[in-house]
Amino acid sequence: MLLGISYDENINNWATASLIEAMKGAGHEVKAFRLSDVSAQIPYRFTHLEDEDISGMAGVVVRTIGFGTGDQVTFRISLLEHFEDAGIYVMNPAYSFRRAKDKYATLTTLHRAGIYVPRTFVGENIDAAVKFVDEVGDVVIKPMIGSRGLGSIHAEHPELTYRAMKFIHQLGQVLYVQETIQKPERDIRAFVIGGKLVGAMYRYVPERRGEWRTNIHEGGRAEPAQLSEEYEECAIKTAEVLRLDYTGVDILESKAGPCVIEANAAPSWSGLSQVTGLDIAGMIVDRLVELAKK
Ligand SMILES: Nc1ncnc2c1ncn2[C@@H]1O[C@H](COP(=O)(O)OP(=O)(O)O)[C@@H](O)[C@H]1O
Ligand SMILES: [Mg+2]
Repeated sequence: MLLGISYDENINNWATASLIEAMKGAGHEVKAFRLSDVSAQIPYRFTHLEDEDISGMAGVVVRTIGFGTGDQVTFRISLLEHFEDAGIYVMNPAYSFRRAKDKYATLTTLHRAGIYVPRTFVGENIDAAVKFVDEVGDVVIKPMIGSRGLGSIHAEHPELTYRAMKFIHQLGQVLYVQETIQKPERDIRAFVIGGKLVGAMYRYVPERRGEWRTNIHEGGRAEPAQLSEEYEECAIKTAEVLRLDYTGVDILESKAGPCVIEANAAPSWSGLSQVTGLDIAGMIVDRLVELAKK
């Protein structure tokens, strides 16, 4: 079958390349494209660049929708929904992808389903954010949309917290401020495909002065993890509630048990493959083909 993959030059190329290889290895034809290069016609016609018809795709893996203005991002999300209307299986589904990219929408959905998430402030009013910090104390400030630990700040000092928030506000970004969860110097990345936990690892805080994040991208060290039933259930339920066909769930080991901070809709798995030897790309492609056939 003809399978698509939406990518962008600079984002997670390794994962994109492994997926393309796995698709070809399974005998499929592959079309890789940037969503910004795809045009749509109503009712159902999709072309890549000038006039290459890609309407016949059976399924698409969305690795990224790329960067852009509010207009461009809205168009690309609607385009994924249009693919779905046309019977092209989108993985992760358009709405799930959009929601997982937005940490605010992710946490409200998880909380509603009874999953433990950190106490979090979201808004555009600095004074309201300051009041929240006064109440909560030690906080983490992160971009509401974004990834790989970039831009996250652990602000223990009130003055620094204020200045960081002011700066973010001036950049025109929404304030996303969260209580710091007390936990060991590691957290868990659990990889779920098709509702099953396929592997998990501990990510340790790198030995760098002041570092507190565990992102592999920031140099975090990985080790394979055998999750307890409680943590396994939490990871599977997170994927299910967010309707993610494959995802990397970030879980903190809090004193009150598993605490979910995000679920990645286009996770990378180089760290996980290294520590577990699993063929993650193959499993993702198998799942896509299974869903695209339905
Ligand atoms: N509330 C929190 N308490 C303690 N540590 C956190 C908290 N939120 C994030 N971290 C740390 O920062 C890292 C990055 O945060 P995360 O929410 O996963 O954002 P992203 O990976 O998209 O940058 C996490 O892997 C974790 O190590
Ligand atoms: Mg993360």
